[in-house]
Amino acid sequence: MDSLALGADLGPEPVVDEHSPVTLFVNGEETTLTVDHRATVLETLRERFGLTGAKKGCDHGQCGACTVLVEGRRINSCLLLAVTQDGATITTVEGLADGESLHPVQQAFVERDALQCGFCTPGQICSAVGMLREAADGRPSHITDPDTATGPVALDADEIRERMSGNLCRCGAYPRIVEAIEDVIE
Ligand code: FES
Ligand code: FES
Repeated sequence: MDSLALGADLGPEPVVDEHSPVTLFVNGEETTLTVDHRATVLETLRERFGLTGAKKGCDHGQCGACTVLVEGRRINSCLLLAVTQDGATITTVEGLADGESLHPVQQAFVERDALQCGFCTPGQICSAVGMLREAADGRPSHITDPDTATGPVALDADEIRERMSGNLCRCGAYPRIVEAIEDVIE
């Protein structure tokens, strides 16, 4: 007979420590903190570091509003558990500027007025910064001609749109976002 069905005594619940210390290097500053194992990088940045630039749009890896740079690579921070990132270097939109000087991508977004409500903008900017590096490193996109992908990838408007396709803008500011990125490339 099934002992579970009889409500057999299975002993005490195992003790699970659901928190662990992690050290993160966020925007150039080293911080050690204890994180809940369920906390994402996005939640940790917003709620523990007070860095609210990255936004929780979908919380499912579909909109890109939460994009930040981890080790220089763009990631959806809503999909990444903070406890897995011990020792990681993270750059958010707040960490892109050099003192009073905006990052060139930030400056281009301002000059092109590449936003409307601005909700997606921090993610768009971080994604663009990561995307430009990926192209410079010769990493092809889905539409890159494999015969020419032997060095830095030239970014025309189609390449920019393809590479930025993970960042949605509900206001439809896409044309000016592309123009801003083209300005940086020039
Ligand atoms: S909030 Fe992370 S992809 Fe939408
Ligand atoms: S500017 Fe409003 S969602 Fe992009």
